[in-house]
Amino acid sequence: MKKIIEKIEEAVKEAFAASEYDEKFAKVTVSNRPDLCEYQCNGAMAAAKTYKKAPIMIANSVVEKLQDNEIFESAEAVNPGFINLKLNKEFLSGYLNDMLADEKLSVEEAKNPKTIVIDYGGPNVAKPLHVGHLRSAIIGESIKRMGRFLGHKVIGDVHLGDWGLQMGLIITELSKRQPDLVYFDENYEGEYPKEAPFTVSELEEIYPTASGKSKEDEAYKNEALEATLQLQKGRRGYRALWQHIMEVSVTDLKKNYAKLKVDFDLWKGEADADAYIPAMVDYLKENGYAYLDQGALVVDVKEETDTKEIPPCMILKSDGASLYNTTDLATIVQRMEDYKPDEIIYVVDKRQELHFVQVFRCAKKAKLVDENTQLSFVGFGTMNGKDGKPFKTREGGVMRLERLIAEINEEMFKKITENRSVKDENAEKTAQMVGLSAIKYGDLSNQASKDYVFDIERFTSFEGNTGPYILYTIVRIKSILSRYAESGKNIDKKAMKAAVNDSEKALMLELSRFNSIIAPAFEEKAPHRICSYIYDLANAFNSFYHETKILSEEDEDKKASWICLLTLTEKVLETCIDLLGFDAPDRM
Ligand code: ARG
Repeated sequence: MKKIIEKIEEAVKEAFAASEYDEKFAKVTVSNRPDLCEYQCNGAMAAAKTYKKAPIMIANSVVEKLQDNEIFESAEAVNPGFINLKLNKEFLSGYLNDMLADEKLSVEEAKNPKTIVIDYGGPNVAKPLHVGHLRSAIIGESIKRMGRFLGHKVIGDVHLGDWGLQMGLIITELSKRQPDLVYFDENYEGEYPKEAPFTVSELEEIYPTASGKSKEDEAYKNEALEATLQLQKGRRGYRALWQHIMEVSVTDLKKNYAKLKVDFDLWKGEADADAYIPAMVDYLKENGYAYLDQGALVVDVKEETDTKEIPPCMILKSDGASLYNTTDLATIVQRMEDYKPDEIIYVVDKRQELHFVQVFRCAKKAKLVDENTQLSFVGFGTMNGKDGKPFKTREGGVMRLERLIAEINEEMFKKITENRSVKDENAEKTAQMVGLSAIKYGDLSNQASKDYVFDIERFTSFEGNTGPYILYTIVRIKSILSRYAESGKNIDKKAMKAAVNDSEKALMLELSRFNSIIAPAFEEKAPHRICSYIYDLANAFNSFYHETKILSEEDEDKKASWICLLTLTEKVLETCIDLLGFDAPDRM
């Protein structure tokens, strides 16, 4: 189905051509003066220069050609040469009837679907999930859902941080606490126990302890570095411990991501790339891309046009240990082998940008990817507290994700139960759903690259540009629709009629824009565009709702038309929140 703006532009093009002006001037945009018109074309001004005529003359003759066009209710030329357009109400309701009949609500799928790997979440094994990982999970999940909705094949990979120094730190700390464990006996050749020698809570305590010690104690740190290297080299006992750490940790991570409605197709990590490193290193050396610099293996990635220094990409340290660059490059090799993606998207803190510049350049230069493979970095800003500093607990510690979610849910529960006299056994579940909308919408409504203030009070409010406001709107519609259904009537999906007042028309205009929102939002990897669209849509609906007595309307045709309009509004809103990664309850 054509976008409504395309249909309008086509008509205006024809009118330009019929007046013997080049149709390239017929560019139509949504009006920036909704008080005057709905769409506008400013092309007469540009055409005036080419044809050496007054713009108003051109606008007049174009407008004259549009007078009988069924698309428009009015087409006016206004000084100095604007063309102001208002849509015909029957045309608009007809368009919406078609939209409602379409399974995808008239959003077209990509003509050339791509295979896309999206790397997001990126938690570090054995460290508790904290709010820093929240953004990647939320933004990545939404981008993945948008891509799929548009027909792309999108593969989500959590890319665990499971191969770095933190593993060596945990192994070192364990070796101090329980030196008699078989894992530390180098001569042991038997099988290792199936049970891990620690629980997830113990693990989460071991890591920060070890990390603290390594900062104060040089010898301790060197031990951890050595343990990391031994692990990477394949020491059996360490691998077995690593396996335990992974199992315990991943089970817990899965549980937490499920609470966020975030899910991954692949649970791979840095460690999986390890097997690809030796061959990649040989290849880089043999083809002259990598060279030794003071014992370390590096690839130059600076380019002539650089305005700031881009240091070489280090592949191996002088002791032979691999680094973050190495695992990321080897992961690219692995992904190319497994999926041959057209694009790999990384949703990572923007402070890691330099790392990705180096990795992407190295991958392109050394032809680890095809020439056309797109490597995209979606760098996000920091989630701050009200003091403008990175979000912390009230006591000033790192905020664990579980705690943040619990606090939001508690707040939501209070709000939901506040005005209720009857006990609602679903209140807890509802609070979780609304709480998730508060967190996700609060995040996604900001442009990803910007820092933002995580303001629990504002995010959980039922008013303003918030998730709960959107859900509240959906619930309101659902309740009207179910009362209508209770009265024994079926919803006729072709019943939408011309708008009877301004607020109804405004709502229809918003709905008709839906199919021009999603594709650009995906191209720009900008879920915030969906948020701003549904905020406008929800506002338009609520204005209409406050002016219209829907269920008590006596004219059945009119009522059926409104029910149809509400059905479409609900579908569009629900589709959008699904793309953002949350759901609406039936009541709240
Ligand atoms: N684990 C990393 C961190 O916590 C993020 C991983 C991002 N993805 C990647 N391919 N490097 O900083």
